[in-house]
Amino acid sequence: MAFNVLIKPSDHSFIMEADETILEAGLRHGFILPYSCRDGVCGTCKGLLLQGTVDYGKYEDSILSEAEKAEGMALFCCAKPTSDLIIECREVNAAKDIPVKTLPCRVHKLERLDDVMVIYLKLPANERLQFLAGQYIDILMKGSKARSFSLANAPHDDEFLQLHVRNISVANSPSMFSHK
Ligand code: FES
Repeated sequence: MAFNVLIKPSDHSFIMEADETILEAGLRHGFILPYSCRDGVCGTCKGLLLQGTVDYGKYEDSILSEAEKAEGMALFCCAKPTSDLIIECREVNAAKDIPVKTLPCRVHKLERLDDVMVIYLKLPANERLQFLAGQYIDILMKGSKARSFSLANAPHDDEFLQLHVRNISVANSPSMFSHK
């Protein structure tokens, strides 16, 4: 079953399925709603339901109180519609609207495509990195050195951070990978 969602004050709207969260559907349609954990534990995605009803989903009780729910608040990373909705929330329009974060990560998978290594980085559970197309991350290395890499995954597809690193063979030295 599909529902219509209208975002205030932007008047953006999208159609979504009943089995997806408001955040998932909004991102899928290209509307950058704010989020961080996507797991109901941080409160970044909290917004107002102006009209309509939702299934609030699973979340940390301390993040959304019963009083806030009574006032119409919901966590859009957890809430699924049970009717057409009008919601109110801030939309991210520029990189400056996204807080800079320093997070640990581990290499989840390496995939070699000809001379390019695709690196999949996994953040800790309950952490996601919101970004806009064209943004980059700094990998912090020993000695406080940092190296910048463009993010290659689509912003809404953020289970892993994906980097594409090109292999450069330098004469008389082992092969190296360089930022594509
Ligand atoms: S993004 Fe953290 S609670 Fe929704």
